[in-house]
Amino acid sequence: MRIGILTGGGDCPGLNAVIRAVVVGGANRYGDECVGFLDGWRGVLQNETVPLDPDACRAILTRGGTILGSSRTNPFATPEGPARALATVAELGLDAVVAIGGDDTLGAADRLATLGFPVVGVPKTIDNDLSGTEVTFGFDTAVQIATEAIDRLQTTAESHHRVMVCEVMGRTVGHIAVHAGMAGGAAEILIPEVPFDVEEVCARLQARHTGPRFFSTVVVAEGATPEQGQSGVGASEGVTDQFGHARLGGIGAYLAEEIERITGFEARATVLGHIQRGGSPSAFDRVLATRFGAEAMQAVHDGAFGSMVALQAGSIVRIPLSEAAGRSKSVDPELYRVAGLFLG
Ligand code: F6P
Repeated sequence: MRIGILTGGGDCPGLNAVIRAVVVGGANRYGDECVGFLDGWRGVLQNETVPLDPDACRAILTRGGTILGSSRTNPFATPEGPARALATVAELGLDAVVAIGGDDTLGAADRLATLGFPVVGVPKTIDNDLSGTEVTFGFDTAVQIATEAIDRLQTTAESHHRVMVCEVMGRTVGHIAVHAGMAGGAAEILIPEVPFDVEEVCARLQARHTGPRFFSTVVVAEGATPEQGQSGVGASEGVTDQFGHARLGGIGAYLAEEIERITGFEARATVLGHIQRGGSPSAFDRVLATRFGAEAMQAVHDGAFGSMVALQAGSIVRIPLSEAAGRSKSVDPELYRVAGLFLG
């Protein structure tokens, strides 16, 4: 078979491992030929490809980012986009396309599949916000990086008797914040799912800063917001992408300023940003990405178009793309409750 592969949306560690699994797995098992689309759906719309064979996949298992490039191009941003995507598949003589992406990329894949675009989806995102799969690759690596950062912030917080605010990624969900915050022993974990009261946060910090524990780390997801009535959060810079998402940022600085103003404790903010998305994938993410890629390759051969591979109860399964796209997976309230036992 001839298979096209694309990586769309924000990159994450493990994308190259999926590409390798589809290309090398397909070549070894079925003698497949693959091409890679450049920069996600942009490469499909503009028919820009690179050849992909096992040689091109040498040593990419451990490499971060994506050798194909990525973009937030939306094939439905223009009326002619969907027809253009179908035309590219025909022009290249492709039997299938493996689309590796998050909610936006897979949402577009789902809509295209209903138009006859032969696509199988592979879920990726460091945010871990995709439904239908217990975890996405990239998340484990991001949590490791954030946890190490929190560990480091703890020691300098202790030396200087400060409150260190650590802003992590998580646009609409707080999976990274909860996992890294729990792993790092944070005093506060603030997530988009639960608006926070800054006065209450400060009161808890004041209660904590008695005796020898005169320091704290506060982990906040970039999409967390104060409860209604508390203004001043510069969470959006007014820039949106082709899927309409605002560029977030500013909650960490806002919190540090408010904590210092209300409590009088010295506070500093650190924004981890894209450091969480860069670099080599963890062993867990390499294995998960490889399993996802191998299953996507098999799904293509089974003609299971319009499906997405997923992790459920430890096994790799296939589900309809429509069961994942457009359905955000929030932090489990029970996990957040357990995390809460150790805050303050
Ligand atoms: O891919 C998801 C994500 O990492 C979000 O957590 C974050 O808000 C966004 O991407 C950042 O996107 P960009 O790379 O376009 O700044």
